[in-house]
Amino acid sequence: MIRFDEVTKVYDDRIAALDDVNVHVKKGEFAFLTGPSGAGKTTFLKMIYAAERPTSGTVTVAGHDIGRMRRRQVPYLRRRIGVVFQDFRLLGDRPVLENVMLPMTILGLSPAERRRRALQVLSVVGLGQRKDDRPDELSGGEQQRVAIARAIALDPVVLLADEPTGNLDPTLTEHIMKLFRAINARGTSVIVATHDYEVVRRTEARVIKIIRGRVEAGEAAR
Ligand SMILES: Nc1ncnc2c1ncn2[C@@H]1O[C@H](COP(=O)(O)OP(=O)(O)O)[C@@H](O)[C@H]1O
Ligand SMILES: [Mg+2]
Repeated sequence: MIRFDEVTKVYDDRIAALDDVNVHVKKGEFAFLTGPSGAGKTTFLKMIYAAERPTSGTVTVAGHDIGRMRRRQVPYLRRRIGVVFQDFRLLGDRPVLENVMLPMTILGLSPAERRRRALQVLSVVGLGQRKDDRPDELSGGEQQRVAIARAIALDPVVLLADEPTGNLDPTLTEHIMKLFRAINARGTSVIVATHDYEVVRRTEARVIKIIRGRVEAGEAAR
């Protein structure tokens, strides 16, 4: 599903953000991407949704070679990948329902079908009652769940989440992790980047550890 072969990423001729990374994430797999701040986690995720290209090596996602992809192909890849951004990237002054429906435009669904799906995923994250509210009126944890609903509404083959439990209390963190588990159980590969080792410790899953751009030995061979 996702393959990194000898991937190195260097920004602005500086030190490598990723250094000779070899990782294979299979369809339906659940993996944590851990490591201290600055390790290269966000860079790893960005390459999967073609926001960055490798400086050398190959990143392959669902058959697409990211480094060789044409710009106009990128939206076709992205409609198969759900991303929960660290800063949510919600439209704060537009209703929650609209935020969830917007990215579905690319799927070519009718407005009625998009609405149906949006309501369904909002109920999955427990926010069905908040559909007409604006993200600006919601708590951080609620905004987080809107971002998750928006990502899963695409019924993605891969779900990526960047520090999804950053500012959440332990109860909400547990709730979000359960949600990711449930999404994973439907066959979606899930990759959660986090520097929170406590979250990793409490969840049974594969752990890909990155330190200064290098994946810790033991992971590379998978
Ligand atoms: N757009 C960018 N331009 C230049 N350097 C960057 C950029 N994005 C990340 N970096 C650098 O790459 C390294 C890895 O960053 P990042 O992938 O964000 O790590 P993490 O998500 O693990 O904190 C850091 O040294 C960071 O400063
Ligand atoms: Mg990061």
